[in-house]
Amino acid sequence: MNPAKITCIEDLRQIYESRVPRMFYDYCDTGSYTTGTYVDNTRAFDKYKLRQRVARNIDNRSLKTRMVGQDVSMPVALAPIGLGGMQHADGEIKACRAAQKFGVPYTLTTMSICSIEEVARHNDKPFWFQLYVMRDRGFASDLVARARAAKCSALVLTLDLQLLGQRHKDIRNGLSAPPKLTIPNILNMMTKPRWCAGMLGTRNRTFGNIVGHVKGVEDMGTLAEWTHHQFDPTLDWTSVEFIRKQWHGKLILKGINDVDDALLAVQTGADAIIVSNHGGRQLDGAPATIDMLGAIVDAVGDKTEVFFDSGIRTGIDIMKAMALGAKGTMVGRAYIYGLGAGGEAGVTRALEILKSELDVTMGLCGESDITKVGRHNLMLPAPPFTIPPPSRAPAKPRSARR
Ligand code: GLV
Repeated sequence: MNPAKITCIEDLRQIYESRVPRMFYDYCDTGSYTTGTYVDNTRAFDKYKLRQRVARNIDNRSLKTRMVGQDVSMPVALAPIGLGGMQHADGEIKACRAAQKFGVPYTLTTMSICSIEEVARHNDKPFWFQLYVMRDRGFASDLVARARAAKCSALVLTLDLQLLGQRHKDIRNGLSAPPKLTIPNILNMMTKPRWCAGMLGTRNRTFGNIVGHVKGVEDMGTLAEWTHHQFDPTLDWTSVEFIRKQWHGKLILKGINDVDDALLAVQTGADAIIVSNHGGRQLDGAPATIDMLGAIVDAVGDKTEVFFDSGIRTGIDIMKAMALGAKGTMVGRAYIYGLGAGGEAGVTRALEILKSELDVTMGLCGESDITKVGRHNLMLPAPPFTIPPPSRAPAKPRSARR
């Protein structure tokens, strides 16, 4: 991988596609059912136009800001992505290292290959941990305790995956970690020698946070089966309080894509919410998150930090989200393309590209400080959707009623 020849995230995606076994590429680069929401997430940015302002002093530009009290070199965090260690050997350790050197937060997912402890052992600074609440609440509590012991600096609680939206390709490919040694898988892996060599050099080849930590789970079968049997469909706002009581650090709620849910989320006292539709991998037919961001910021932006997720592939997209009022953004696929293309160096390259695109875009909008960017930098499309007035006020979580 020659970084100088990689000019945009799409270049990284193409290298990634050629280097990583099909089932893991497909796992990352798809959406649920018709993939309508997944496709819309990226396309919807086109409707928002940036105002070009000229003849301003844009020397000494700064992208520095804070996300949940943490200094960041740009308003970007790496989103939690399952199976990172199948995109590249020890992928989570490497992505975390790249993020920390770059000065942006890294979020490790519950569904990672490298465990919380392994990632902490190989990185000096705290990272964020993303929690899926399982039916076995004891296991969820153990994960919170493990994140605390690993000195994670924020807990990201995902609210939009109690059921898995079907991704057809994962079923057809028989997605599993490690991959099953079927003839089609072996033939495909034979065309990915670097990937195979990397995997032979690590022991991290299955879900490190789960296998060996949950009684009786030695082999997780497919991700879909595990989710179906283990993820807690009863997860509700009282469950958020259950987690809040165990975690006294920064709490970030991920998967909000509706104003009513944002209003409920702030009542939990969360430090931040992430406007996300899970990268178009869950509710097919949901609006693109960029189309919901403005209304959510207007409703709760003065009460909690609003971060933006789902669909970012360029620094231009980040600029639009920040102009709509996000206090930070999360990138998922954009860095996974880099990870699959070139491990730690690939993630670093993805971050460099996003940073440089954001810097130039901000400057060409006539701004030199990312914290001063706002709606004045945007031309908004006519409201794309009408949300009917609420038939009733959103219910308060129990603790807020007392
Ligand atoms: C898990 O987070 C997934 O979307 O597969």
